Amino acid sequence: MTDHIVLYGKGGVGKSTLISNICAALAEAGFGIMQVGCDPRADSCNTLSDGRPIPTVFDRLRKQQDISTETVVHRGFKGVSCMELGDPSGVGLCASEEIARAFRVIESAGIFEAISPDFVFYDISGESSCAGFHTAIRLLDVRRVFVVTSADFMSLRAANGIFSLLTGSVGIPALPVGGLIPNGIGSSFEESFIQDFAHHTGTHTLTHIPCSLMVRQCELYGKTVIEAAPLSNQSYFYRRLANQIVDESRTSTVNGQPHPLTPDQLGTWARGWGDQLHALEHGLVTDGAAI
Ligand SMILES: Nc1ncnc2c1ncn2[C@@H]1O[C@H](COP(=O)(O)OP(=O)(O)OP(=O)(O)O)[C@@H](O)[C@H]1O
Ligand SMILES: [Mg+2]
Repeated sequence: MTDHIVLYGKGGVGKSTLISNICAALAEAGFGIMQVGCDPRADSCNTLSDGRPIPTVFDRLRKQQDISTETVVHRGFKGVSCMELGDPSGVGLCASEEIARAFRVIESAGIFEAISPDFVFYDISGESSCAGFHTAIRLLDVRRVFVVTSADFMSLRAANGIFSLLTGSVGIPALPVGGLIPNGIGSSFEESFIQDFAHHTGTHTLTHIPCSLMVRQCELYGKTVIEAAPLSNQSYFYRRLANQIVDESRTSTVNGQPHPLTPDQLGTWARGWGDQLHALEHGLVTDGAAI
């Protein structure tokens, strides 16, 4: 059975890097893995394929060329099946009708049956996390959605908006949310900040991924950390997260859907942290609780 897992998050929080490392870790552990990049720039699978571009589904659809496993799936590190949807509109916009069409074509081309992966990971860019895209991915039998965030207010505000989409608050049927994945974490303050947001929205955090220069270095070589630095501490964190995702996705019960904050609640929550930071800067916090 194939489990479809979606990762959402604001643009630039590190989704593609994270997913590629998770896919590399799971492939290394013996799972059949596919990664589907849903970003118009078609750069999701770069570090799984030595930085080389892959012919995209939309490029071929535009040229009326055939869509098959041979033409749109590239085998990357440890056999990960990599596919990039590409640019649906030709001008970098979210075109939900076109994305839905691409998913239908991929399904009717029998690509999932041909590869028969254990997991398919979808990398959905911040710009594409519009209601239209969300409607399109409902064509798939999505097992879990995880939301990637870094420890800044803009990313958490975006995560809150994504929760609204995912939990049906805007009138679209809900999808099962697996939790928040903190990425690029540089201090325990940042970890606490995201954990507190998770607590206030009724969800939880998975293993955090530390901020590391090694990630950038591996990216420059067109490789995941799992491939280029398999024995590093950073790889340990990616493997731990990958295991958690597998465990959580294979549990039939969802841990409770998040409840997004209203703009007022979000503002009040943010100001509370602003005050804490202010106190921290002026040496008023002495018990280390927020550090
Ligand atoms: N844990 C980390 N530590 C340090 N740098 C990181 C980490 N994760 C990602 N990065 C870096 O952050 C940058 C953005 O990452 P990435 O392209 O994966 O983000 P994204 O969320 O996919 O962006 P987009 O929404 O634009 O597709 C990259 O240069 C990447 O190397
Ligand atoms: Mg990306």
